[in-house]
Amino acid sequence: MRDEFTDPGVSSEVEESVEAGLRPRALDEFVGQRELKEHLSIVLEAARKRGQAVDHLLFAGPPGLGKTTLAGIVATEMQSHLHVTSGPALERAGDLAAILTKLEEGDVLFVDEIHRLSRAVEEILYPAMEDFQLDIVVGKGPAASSIRLTMPPFTLVGATTRTGMITGPLRDRFGLVARLDYYDDEELQAIVTRASGILDVIVDDEGAWEIARRSRGTPRIANRLLRRVRDFAEVRHDGSITAEIAREGLRLFGVDDLGLDKVDRAILSAMCEQFNGGPVGLSTVAISVGEQPDTVEDVYEPFLIQQGMIARTPRGRVAMPAAYHHLGLAQPTPRPGQPGLFDG
Ligand SMILES: Nc1ncnc2c1ncn2[C@@H]1O[C@H](COP(=O)(O)OP(=O)(O)OP(=O)(O)O)[C@@H](O)[C@H]1O
Ligand SMILES: [Mg+2]
Repeated sequence: MRDEFTDPGVSSEVEESVEAGLRPRALDEFVGQRELKEHLSIVLEAARKRGQAVDHLLFAGPPGLGKTTLAGIVATEMQSHLHVTSGPALERAGDLAAILTKLEEGDVLFVDEIHRLSRAVEEILYPAMEDFQLDIVVGKGPAASSIRLTMPPFTLVGATTRTGMITGPLRDRFGLVARLDYYDDEELQAIVTRASGILDVIVDDEGAWEIARRSRGTPRIANRLLRRVRDFAEVRHDGSITAEIAREGLRLFGVDDLGLDKVDRAILSAMCEQFNGGPVGLSTVAISVGEQPDTVEDVYEPFLIQQGMIARTPRGRVAMPAAYHHLGLAQPTPRPGQPGLFDG
């Protein structure tokens, strides 16, 4: 059911290596997110001037918007080493301690999915972030004792798709918490054009625009759609991409006019048709489309909410008029006496 083609949360090894090639390395190459870039460039510049490690940074936002890319940019701009790990990879406190002891002054430690750190690992992180102190327990049982090591100043860059799941104490230890927003069509057009240069494929402005406006505000999807349209253009046409070829190719791959894919449409039609517009619980929606609730919540819902197609209410998810309109369905009229969607 899951669509590797447009799903921003899914990537195969091949996709990941192509993605790495398309990743901007310097802040100047990073398109969009103007405010975030301005804040970040000030923080980096100031740290450079003082000759100090950059303050810890937290990047939050939906998948595919550039969090990992920004972590790499921070390391490049500071000419420091990048160490990469993730919340789920750090199972025990010792896993994190092993990484922390390897850090040199000014190094960047990127912790992806930082909201999934275990409590025990977080406890190690607090003094490391705050005072560059590392508490290590040696021995076991009653003979166990703790030794405290001082480590060189480093920069922790955390990424999360769920700000709500970051504990207060952890969040407070970041010097800058930056939220990434969906990109607008012009920005995505610039991203498609930039990527086409790297991939060595000819795309005219209108072709880039057609891809951009169906990319659900997400650079990763824009790059992926570009690669599929390139395949289509090479096999069925002469290889260059015009608006017409982009439209044809995207239609063939099941991407609709708004950029919604099979799963997005399945979610909307389950809500509108099966559950009468809701309210319906997240897990019920997930089961009916054959996805994990987490995937629906992190990957699909944010864009559908941003587009005003669905809304979250205290009693569950509801379909909005835009959803009916997009699916070409008539919106049910509430029966007299039936409570409105947002009551209660
Ligand atoms: N601002 C940007 N300008 C140009 N390309 C971008 C930009 N942001 C992201 N990209 C492209 O999109 C791809 C995905 O970005 P990235 O891996 O940084 O997303 P992410 O936020 O870390 O996603 P996830 O939450 O799934 O880890 C990158 O390969 C990069 O090429
Ligand atoms: Mg990432």
